[in-house]
Amino acid sequence: YKKITTNSVQEMKRNGEKISMLTAYDYTLARIVDAAGIDVILVGDSASNVMAGHETTLPITLDQMIYHASSVVRAIDRALVVVDLPFGSYQGNSKEALTSAIRIMKESGGHAVKLEGGTEIVDSIERILKAGIPVMGHLGLTPQSIYKFGTYTVRAKEEAEAEKLLEDAKALEEAGCFALVLEKIPRKLAKRVAESLEIPVIGIGAGPDVDGQVLVLHDMLGMTHEFHPRFLRRYLDLYDQITGAVGNYVSDVKNRDFPNEKESY
Ligand code: KIV
Ligand code: NA
Repeated sequence: YKKITTNSVQEMKRNGEKISMLTAYDYTLARIVDAAGIDVILVGDSASNVMAGHETTLPITLDQMIYHASSVVRAIDRALVVVDLPFGSYQGNSKEALTSAIRIMKESGGHAVKLEGGTEIVDSIERILKAGIPVMGHLGLTPQSIYKFGTYTVRAKEEAEAEKLLEDAKALEEAGCFALVLEKIPRKLAKRVAESLEIPVIGIGAGPDVDGQVLVLHDMLGMTHEFHPRFLRRYLDLYDQITGAVGNYVSDVKNRDFPNEKESY
């Protein structure tokens, strides 16, 4: 694929090719991630935690999401860029949801939006889709509802919640979502959802039997030390490497080793 579109990720599912997705929030890292061959970049509202140091995703604003998304969009040549609608920008009513989605598309240049929730937000999703804006769904552990859940543990382990999730997934597909994220649910339930939907299902902590995987970039690069859920595989230990590099710089400056003759004019 030369440029990834919502159609290409759907084609990947039909062809049995797994979809790769990572978050990015800024120009420099998005440029690297895009050039490395990622299929989908998510400008996640996890920027609230990763970029701004908030405890939850709730505080990040639509203006801040647009700032992050526009930085990412300027960086990419190939990836599909999906942007989270932040908490408070779509739950009021479908008109508000549409207005927020339009602002993201117009002001950031992103290619699609993602919303958390099932049947409760189907009217908003339909309205956004009618405006020609592709929508990705998000079910399971939906962090914007953390104060309803009270915990970040695995969702839908009980039959009732699992059945509701299956119904929600079908409703999102029927409404016209082009793909669906499932966060932190049992592997077997995720498999059932992926098998019962035609649209691609992208998992985070949802096991291998889905159509693609997503991780938070800073987590998989090992920049966040305190966070180690079992679903997280670390591909680098950037926390330690950066600590070493900064430590070396500090001592080079203190020891008058930096800058040397060649590094001076
Ligand atoms: O904001 C985010 O990073 C996300 C992914 C974890 C799916 O929504
Ligand atoms: Na998110």
